[in-house]
Amino acid sequence: MRYFLLILGLSIVVVMTLAGRRFDDGGSISRRPPIEVFPDMDRQPKLRPQTRNNFFPDQFSSQLPVPGTIARGAPYEDSTANTGRITGTTNFVGTIPVAVTEQLITRGRQRYQINCSPCHSAMGDGNGITKRLGMAVVGNLHDKRIVELPDGEIFNTISNGKNLMGAYGANISINDRWAIVAYVRALQRSRLADVNDMPEAQRSALKK
Ligand code: HEC
Repeated sequence: MRYFLLILGLSIVVVMTLAGRRFDDGGSISRRPPIEVFPDMDRQPKLRPQTRNNFFPDQFSSQLPVPGTIARGAPYEDSTANTGRITGTTNFVGTIPVAVTEQLITRGRQRYQINCSPCHSAMGDGNGITKRLGMAVVGNLHDKRIVELPDGEIFNTISNGKNLMGAYGANISINDRWAIVAYVRALQRSRLADVNDMPEAQRSALKK
């Protein structure tokens, strides 16, 4: 028993000196534990900034941003086409700030039918399928008040929602939002037409 304790003590000393020593080059200062049972993420195959890296042709680990990269949030707020507001103010822009073409309106019609018609209906009167399912106060886009809203405010309603209507900014790209605004205007116009919108020949036929 005495020998056993002696041998045990000795082996502890031997194991500690061999396994417990730091195998660094010479020095005794190390941040690493001698035996790593759980290395966690101590060593990672990552690039440190400002170090050499042969992967890239210029051999820098830090690369410049790709040309055309836009800093998050930076110039976004600055343009009317992005916000629907006149730059530097909180006023909504009166007319659509992108070129309104037949193509844009056609695109707007398709996007409107996908994103808006379930609630506002294909005609825009607010009697979409959701009304029958219990959504009572869907806006009628032919209301005089909504017809008179600046284009930028409708853009803003699509982007950020309003009262009971949710925001669709995350689902609909900026250009598509303007396309929808253009189509909503076309829908409204279709109900505001009067006899003067008819071609001359048909107008006289109507008068007879
Ligand atoms: C899930 C149903 C739903 C969808 C989808 C929806 N709306 Fe609405 N919308 C509403 C409701 C409800 C209101 C009335 C909000 C209120 O005043 O409480 C409203 C109101 C509006 C108004 C009037 C806002 C005002 O100033 O009073 C506009 C304009 C409008 N919606 C446009 C759109 C357009 C364009 C789309 C498609 C991109 C769309 N909505 C999609 C439910 C919806």
